[in-house]
Amino acid sequence: MLTIGMPKGALYDDAAARLRAAGIEVPDDAGRKLAVVTPDGTQLLFLRPTDVPAYVEFGAADCGIVGKDVLWETERSVSELADLGFGYCRLCVAARRIDRYHEGAPFPTFLRVATKFERSANAYFAERDLPVELIPLHGSVELSPLVGLADLIVDLVATGNTLREHDMVIVDEIAESTARFVVNPVRFRTKYDELTDLLERLERNVPA
Ligand code: PRP
Repeated sequence: MLTIGMPKGALYDDAAARLRAAGIEVPDDAGRKLAVVTPDGTQLLFLRPTDVPAYVEFGAADCGIVGKDVLWETERSVSELADLGFGYCRLCVAARRIDRYHEGAPFPTFLRVATKFERSANAYFAERDLPVELIPLHGSVELSPLVGLADLIVDLVATGNTLREHDMVIVDEIAESTARFVVNPVRFRTKYDELTDLLERLERNVPA
């Protein structure tokens, strides 16, 4: 029996559809459930996406589905076996249109950057020798430049609607993210047949 860490939220529907196409009866909506055992005996854990790597590293889940954006930020040791292709989004530097940073206006000397992606943001600004004060936030990051908390944000852009609705623009693109299939490296050896079988079914059966 395999235990799979499922990401709740934006990736859930596509992850569930992909597992269903691979033959696992995943419920449409996890509701308030924390875990279920499907009729074929697979255990599904419904997790905050950022928690998937911890469950997989410690072996509480044999494998999981998680966005690359989460893997950039984690120190957890998991093996990434496949790019599942869905959940495409871009990690971007963004600002208020009115500030004209996207047109090359100089950044302020004491640049404040709000983000949920501290590691990625630090690496981006360090590479460019730009000293910044990072302001770690947990959500609604686009609000921060609008109310004077930050000059820039580093955040995910999917449809671009959130930026557009707040008259913000992309200043630079840092990286692209999609959902990944990750495994616990030890379990990959001890449950090799089951995990490679699931991987093959995930890669072979892509829902339209
Ligand atoms: C994510 C991201 C952006 C938004 C981008 O937020 O941090 O805010 O989605 O999507 P869009 O380009 O399609 O508008 P999330 O929905 O995770 O909410 P949050 O504000 O709680 O981070």
